[in-house]
This record gives sequence, C-alpha cells and structure tokens, in this order.
Amino acid sequence: MGVEAWYMDDSDDDQRKPHKRRPNVAVTLEELEKHGILYWKLDPNKFEDDLKLQKIRKERNYTWMDIVNIHKDTMPNYEEKIKSFYQEHIHLDEEIRYILAGSGYFDVRDKDDKWIRIAMKEGDMITLPAGIYHRFTLDENNYVKAMRLFVGEPVWTPYYRPADEFEARKKYIQFLNERL
Ligand code: LAC
Ligand code: NI
Repeated sequence: MGVEAWYMDDSDDDQRKPHKRRPNVAVTLEELEKHGILYWKLDPNKFEDDLKLQKIRKERNYTWMDIVNIHKDTMPNYEEKIKSFYQEHIHLDEEIRYILAGSGYFDVRDKDDKWIRIAMKEGDMITLPAGIYHRFTLDENNYVKAMRLFVGEPVWTPYYRPADEFEARKKYIQFLNERL
C-alpha cells in the first residue's frame, strides 16, 4: 500500500499520460522519504472531521488551508494555469497537498536530477520540501479537487528553474547530501 511512483520515460508525449518506462522502474515510499517527501493516506470522505488530519496539521503547524478544484469548466485561465503548474520550479516553503477527489501527478527531481512521477489519488496527502524542483499535471481524468495547506499565510510563488541561488535550494541540497 501507499502511493505509486516511478521513474519517467523520455518521451515528449502528452504530459497527462503516465510516462512509465518499459519495464517500469518503481520508486518506493522509502526512496521518496529520503528526498524529504512526506506521505500520508487519509479518508477523503471525512476530511472535515478527520482526527488524523487534525493531528498532522497540529504537529506540522499546517494552520492554513483551502480547497481548489482544477477542471476546465470551473477554473479561470485553465489552460494557462495547467501550463504554469507543469513548469519546473521550487518554492521557499513546503508544498502540501491533500487529494480529495480526482487524481494527478506530482513530478519531483531525484538526487541525480531524474524525474520521479508520483501518482496522487483521493486520500493521498503529500508534502514536498522547500527547494525541491517539481511540477504538477492533471492525468487523463482531467480533474482534481485538492486541499492546499500551509504553515501560516500562504506564499505560492514559484521560482522557475534555474533557481539554485535561493537559500531554500541550498538547504535542500545540503539535506540530500547528508542523507544520501
Ligand atoms: C504548485 C504546484 C503546481 O506550485 O506545484 O501549486
Ligand atoms: Ni509547486
């Protein structure tokens, strides 16, 4: 159990496709954890009254939250947003997402700069560490409803690659070097 992740192929095909290699090269939760990525499985049906979620929020100080729907009929500037989500970037803070419905892919760069694709489905909650290069795309279902959480007032600013001069990036590299 857990989340499904794999190393991506090199094809330029539609970003919404799985892009698995043949044969598939799976990535375990343990490997994701070594990259500073945290994962929880929750019950999306009771998110408004979920003690497990409340505990995580308390422990990690995820005080702020909202819920976003990513679908072409409900999201303003849909195509533009989809494109920008898929541009490789970092943030200076953690990126925390909890999938309530639908699905999508978070791609993260591993320690050797290779893309790992993380298939997020309802009930999956993930934290990407500050300074990790990543991107997001919908999959072929073209819909996701996600809770966004944050430590304090949210700052979603993406810094597109190259963004190696940022302190958050340097700290993340240091973290990787200490652990891998
Ligand atoms: C974000 C995702 C797209 O920054 O990484 O919201
Ligand atoms: Ni991001």
